[in-house]
Amino acid sequence: MKQEIVKTIERLKKEKDAVILAHYYVDGSVQEIADYVGDSFYLAKIAKQINHQVIVFCGVRFMGESAKILNPQKTVLLPDGAADCPMAHMVSEEKIEQMRKEYPDLAVVCYVNSTKALKAKSDVCVTSSNAVQIVKALPNKDVFFIPDENLGRYVKEQVPEKNVILNDGFCPYHHKITAGQVRAEKEKHPQALVLTHPECREEVLSLSDYIGSTAGIISFAQKSENKEFIVCTEHGVSYQLEGLGKGKKFYFVSPCPVCADMKKVTLEKVAHVLQTGENAVEMDEEERLCAMAPLERMLQLAT
Ligand code: 13P
Ligand code: SF4
Repeated sequence: MKQEIVKTIERLKKEKDAVILAHYYVDGSVQEIADYVGDSFYLAKIAKQINHQVIVFCGVRFMGESAKILNPQKTVLLPDGAADCPMAHMVSEEKIEQMRKEYPDLAVVCYVNSTKALKAKSDVCVTSSNAVQIVKALPNKDVFFIPDENLGRYVKEQVPEKNVILNDGFCPYHHKITAGQVRAEKEKHPQALVLTHPECREEVLSLSDYIGSTAGIISFAQKSENKEFIVCTEHGVSYQLEGLGKGKKFYFVSPCPVCADMKKVTLEKVAHVLQTGENAVEMDEEERLCAMAPLERMLQLAT
């Protein structure tokens, strides 16, 4: 059955001149058939570089939107149109306007995990892999970091020379991880290094040996001489981590964080949108241009 769907996907990809992009959090079966797999920064960059007419974006809505914003001439298909990141909505446009009035020289720094409407109101986008670098490079002293409070706090600590103002958004899965859960794993695996996504709470970050994006976590585990790791992020990264071999072992906190929206993406749905062209990302041109400026600025500022 699975082999048949994979064959159908391969055929449709050729017929439609399509390419498949997948985030590290989607199911391993989808990562396996993707042409490009990565963190949100890599996927935004690669979406601009590929020449295919159709991009099937295996991730959540904001990722597909970013691909469309940067590639208006291409068709971007979402395998599940309802796969949406809850954090992407966790600040209002009114709040941004209010902050701009309060701080005349404010830079609004928008984590890519945000709607296109929020991006359109921002000065620059960032991802977890470049947020510190970009905030450091901004000429503004006052920075309103939206929507994620945990990533914002991490950036604030790394860039003490700026006045980073936090918003109260959060990822429901990363925010649920507690220091107690990490300590419980550490007791079972005392030699393990703790690898953490910066969307986690401060109490978890302070117990960590490495803090970084999904790509950063995978790359750290690959280069490390250590054999055991406690992973504080969404379970999808296990597909890549298990593939590293060399007897390396990975333990997730319990209960294991699983993003329900990322897991809505299935092979069947990939085949379906390729066949039908359903769930194409559409947007108003004016809104697209407003949202494109901060995304392009991120691509210029980040390496
Ligand atoms: P990355 O930018 O590290 O891929 O993370 C995206 C995300 O959704 C984290 O929850
Ligand atoms: Fe959004 Fe969290 Fe899912 Fe990432 S893991 S897509 S931040 S809900």
